[in-house]
Formats: sequence, C-alpha cells, structure tokens
Amino acid sequence: MIILGIETSCDETALSIIEAEGGVRSPVFKVLGNIILSQAKLHEQYGGVFPNLARREHAKNLVPVFKKVLEESIFGMINVKNQIPNEKIEGIKTILEKEPELLKQFLELIPTLEKPPIDLIAVTQGPGLEPALWVGISFAKALGHIWNIPIVPVNHMEGHIVSILLDRNENPNDKFQMTKTIEFPALALLVSGGHTELILIKAWGSYEKIGETKDDAVGEAFDKVARILELPYPGGPEISRLAENSRNLKLKAKSLSLPRPMIHSKDLDFSFSGLKTAVLYMVEKIKPLTEETKREIAREFEDAVGDVLLSKTKKAIEKIGVKHLIIAGGVSANKHLQEIFGEYSQDAGITLHLPLPILTGDNALMIAIAGYIEHSIDKSKENDSFKASGNLSL
Ligand code: KG4
Ligand code: ZN
Repeated sequence: MIILGIETSCDETALSIIEAEGGVRSPVFKVLGNIILSQAKLHEQYGGVFPNLARREHAKNLVPVFKKVLEESIFGMINVKNQIPNEKIEGIKTILEKEPELLKQFLELIPTLEKPPIDLIAVTQGPGLEPALWVGISFAKALGHIWNIPIVPVNHMEGHIVSILLDRNENPNDKFQMTKTIEFPALALLVSGGHTELILIKAWGSYEKIGETKDDAVGEAFDKVARILELPYPGGPEISRLAENSRNLKLKAKSLSLPRPMIHSKDLDFSFSGLKTAVLYMVEKIKPLTEETKREIAREFEDAVGDVLLSKTKKAIEKIGVKHLIIAGGVSANKHLQEIFGEYSQDAGITLHLPLPILTGDNALMIAIAGYIEHSIDKSKENDSFKASGNLSL
C-alpha cells in the first residue's frame, strides 16, 4: 500500500510517500518521496522554537512541500482541471477554518491535482508543540476528506523508534529498502530535544516506558549548554563539533569536571538540569571564555551525558535481558554517543540499531513507517476526529 507521512510537531515541515508491504511481522518499505524543510534558521535568532511562529511557517509551507514530494514520487499529476463538488469544498473550509493561509493554498491546489494512488495518511498526533501539530493534522484531515482515505494518528516517539527499520540499500537501484530484523523484547533509548526515555518494546506497537528524565531532555541540555557557551541554535551539533575537536587534539584539562547526575540511583531515570547549571557556574567562574575552554567544556559535558546514558541503558539491559538496543531521536546523531554505545554493544553481545544519518532528526518517513505498523496492527485507531496531543506518551 502507499502511505503519505506528515510531520509538523516542531520546526520541521516534513512529508514523505512510501510503499509498504509485509505486514507487522516482516515489513518492507520503498521510499518514493521524502522532503524535510527545516525552520531552524528562522528560530535561530530567538535561540529556540516559538510555537506560533512554527505554526505559521508550517501553514505557509505545507502545500509547496506537498507538491514537491508528489513530484519526487512521480505522482506529480498537477495541472489537470477537476471539478470539486461543493459539499467537499464546504467540508474543507470547515476543516481548515483556523488556517486561512493554508486553506487558500489548498483550495487553489486541489482542482489542479489528480488523486494520487495514496491509500493511507499517517500524521503526527503528538507529542510536540500543539499549534504546530494542529496544522499538520488539519492538512491530513483536509486531504483525507477530499480523497476519502483513512488517516492514522501517529505517536512521534514511535516514529523515532521505527526510524531504525530503514536500512541502506545494497543495490542503490533497488528502491525497496532493506529492513532490519528486531528481536523482541528490545530496548529503545530515545534521545531528542523534548524527550529522554528508556522504552521496553515487547512487540511493534507494544511499548512500556521504564525510565525517563525528571527534568530537561538531553537534547534540551545540549541546546541550553550551547547557549551558555554562546554557540548558535540548535546547540547539539555545535557542542558535538567542539567536543570532537577537543578529542582529536587529545588534550583534556582535568580541572574541568562536571557531575554525572543520578548515575548511581537505583532507578532508570535521568536528570540533566543540574548538569546544565553546573556548566553555568563553571563558565561564571572562568569567564572570559576562550575557544579552547569552550572546546574542553563541550567535551566534558558530552562525556558526562554519555556516561549517564550508557550507565542507565546498561542497567536496563541487565534488568530485562534484551539483546537488541535501538537508539533514536535527534541526539542519536551524536558521534561520541554512537562510539561509546558501539563499543559497549560489541563487548556485551548486543545488536545496536541506529537510524540512517538522514533519519536521526525529525522526518516524515518515520511517521509513514509507524503509520504502516499501526495500520497493520489495528485499524480501529484510524479516524478523522482525533485531536493534537502535545503530551502524548508511549
Ligand atoms: O528528534 P529531534 O530532531 O527533535 C525533537 O523531536 O526534539 O531532536 C532535536 C535535538 C536538538 O536538541 C538538537 O540539539 C539535538 O537533537 N541534536 C544533537 C545532535 N544533532 C541534533 N545533539 C547532540 N549531538 C548531535 N550531533
Ligand atoms: Zn523528534
């Protein structure tokens, strides 16, 4: 079947089209189109993502990105002339009532577009910024209404988990992607801008949160520490780059030592806000910052984060006895984390699954894949009356 994926939970307007088969036991995917339009540059000047600004940008960009993904996937059947029944137009006006800019573009597009052979729409329901989520959901509902196709609401965090299913093609001419085999139960460490969670996966679609951050998410800590070090937003890649420079130079000032919060606690929870505060105090003490001290602090911070994440993940693995570990979410792009988890997995005989580099951050391929998994398990969740859910949990 062919699935359209829509992701607007934060600052990426992303659309994808995939072909999927094999069901939940042996899913195989063919990527037909994948577009990610990032608003990061716009939000950079404010040092973070503003929900209403993100919403406005999604509303402005969804139709152009949609046209692009249709073209990419060769369903670019634009420039026909269709007569749209009046009751459909009225329905669209109600669905997109709160998004006048999107409504205007949508009503211009629809009469020129032949219905592509899309069978299902998968859209992020949450967690995320509600105003941003609503735009994507309304867009999905408008398309579902005009084409009479079902919509499956997707949990963004399940999206990150299943993002690891797409593997590199052995034959680059073959568009069907290899799919990784996961042995259940498996463990997922989800590390993003909004979440830090350990998830026990009993089977696809069956998740249990066994650990989480009590305060800041790890990506959030990266971003806040980057601000303290006067680095641009988003801070994760910047800190990562500086830390890597320091590792390459092989210098490390021992005096710059940061705490490893909750590393010895018996539970599987995390805390990163104290670590950020410790960086703040450290910087206050040694100001003005030189490039070299920034590098050293970035490295020590990354070491501290890595030590805590690895220690708690090991604890979880030992406790539940899993053999497959998934690390996903924006922070899974971090080289140092990939290295320390790679070494550990090898020593412990654990199979480590990471997303392809283009799929670590937010994207709509993972949403389409999660939509297929959910559709294969239980079609009863498909409806057109669900709401955005900013705090949706796995
Ligand atoms: O999953 P994601 O793209 O969006 C959310 O759902 O939050 O994650 C974004 C987070 C940001 O905090 C960003 O700074 C962080 O991922 N990030 C990184 C790296 N690349 C992105 N953190 C550490 N190292 C990186 N290389
Ligand atoms: Zn995310």
